Amino acid sequence: MKTDLEIDVKEIGWVDLKSQYLAKRNEILALVDQVFTNGEFVNGKSVDLLEAEIARYVGVKYALCLNSGTDALIFAMKALGIGPGDEVITPPNSFIASTSSIVHVGAKPVFVDVCEDQLIDPSLIEKAVTPNTKAIMVVHLAGRTAEMGEINRIAIKHNLYVIEDAAQAFGAKYNNVRAGALADVGCFSAHPLKIFNAAGDAGFLTTDREEVYNEVRLLRNHGLMDRTTAVKWGYVSRMNSLQAELLRMRLAQEIDSNIAKRRINASIYRKVLNPKYIFMPEVPDHLFHTYMCLVIQVPRRDDLQRYLADHGVRVAVHYPIPIHLQPAAKDLGYKKGDFPMTEKQADSIMTIPVHQFMEEEDVLHVAELINGFYD
Ligand SMILES: Cc1ncc(COP(=O)(O)O)c(C=O)c1O
Repeated sequence: MKTDLEIDVKEIGWVDLKSQYLAKRNEILALVDQVFTNGEFVNGKSVDLLEAEIARYVGVKYALCLNSGTDALIFAMKALGIGPGDEVITPPNSFIASTSSIVHVGAKPVFVDVCEDQLIDPSLIEKAVTPNTKAIMVVHLAGRTAEMGEINRIAIKHNLYVIEDAAQAFGAKYNNVRAGALADVGCFSAHPLKIFNAAGDAGFLTTDREEVYNEVRLLRNHGLMDRTTAVKWGYVSRMNSLQAELLRMRLAQEIDSNIAKRRINASIYRKVLNPKYIFMPEVPDHLFHTYMCLVIQVPRRDDLQRYLADHGVRVAVHYPIPIHLQPAAKDLGYKKGDFPMTEKQADSIMTIPVHQFMEEEDVLHVAELINGFYD
């Protein structure tokens, strides 16, 4: 039997995959039926169609479906010829895959700290450039792009590639150009917790570079140029048709309204959260933030997280351990204190619910709980 408290509490999570399913249940069941009836399960017509649709949406010549965002990052670097002896500049406050992909191609990650908005600080990038630097990997964290104008200028000056880790930024724009069309290669995750999400692992890459497209097409499917001839040692990183059809449906029917609703919800938070305690970075007009995550920075973060959980609100922390302080990164030679902004944020950031199934009253409810905790 439920207690009185349990009956009163309205559960609100930072994601709501069940509501997303129920809103499109009939469409999803129909596409499962369609894929099983066709019997074409991997890299088929559904994938070709999705690639054309993603390329059009992002505004690039090519999109390639893969089985994860991590593979997109690894294959992007392989296709650009990045490997042993090369350095790649990247921020230390991302999901581990941004950096592990650099390690997996044999290159060395070189970290650069971030600004108040959690994105790589362009004013620190040039100091990290050495004769071995081959690329800058920006991370468009939470659905907001890095300052690409300045970053691309630095890259041109030093003859570097720029790779967008846009795993969290499908639909985001910088000066009206979408993430994935802002540099040499865009790498996206369609993991279930992402804004443009599959029902399992999935990812894709976007580019205008024909040589990258041709190389990754081979890499994702055993290096096979046709059914029988392998022209190089490849991998298996194909997207299956069920995920592709689900993503096609989401692209056509959900993504733009999903983003629009998140932006409305974020604007309500911005009006009502008490700025005395809660820091929500400003978003300048040239950025179109999708709010895949709405990240605030707060004092006593862990206490607030527990308080919210007690009141039915499930938040997340992306990410509590900076990559340079992960046990896996010990060989890179960094230590605590090397990236003060990243480390400060690791203790204060909190991803609060902003998703498309929240109504204004839900947003106000969460905001009141947060303000109330500090009052
Ligand atoms: C910033 C960032 N980069 C890379 C990835 C890796 O994507 P995936 O989980 O699809 O391999 C993720 C997803 O978790 C991410 O958030």
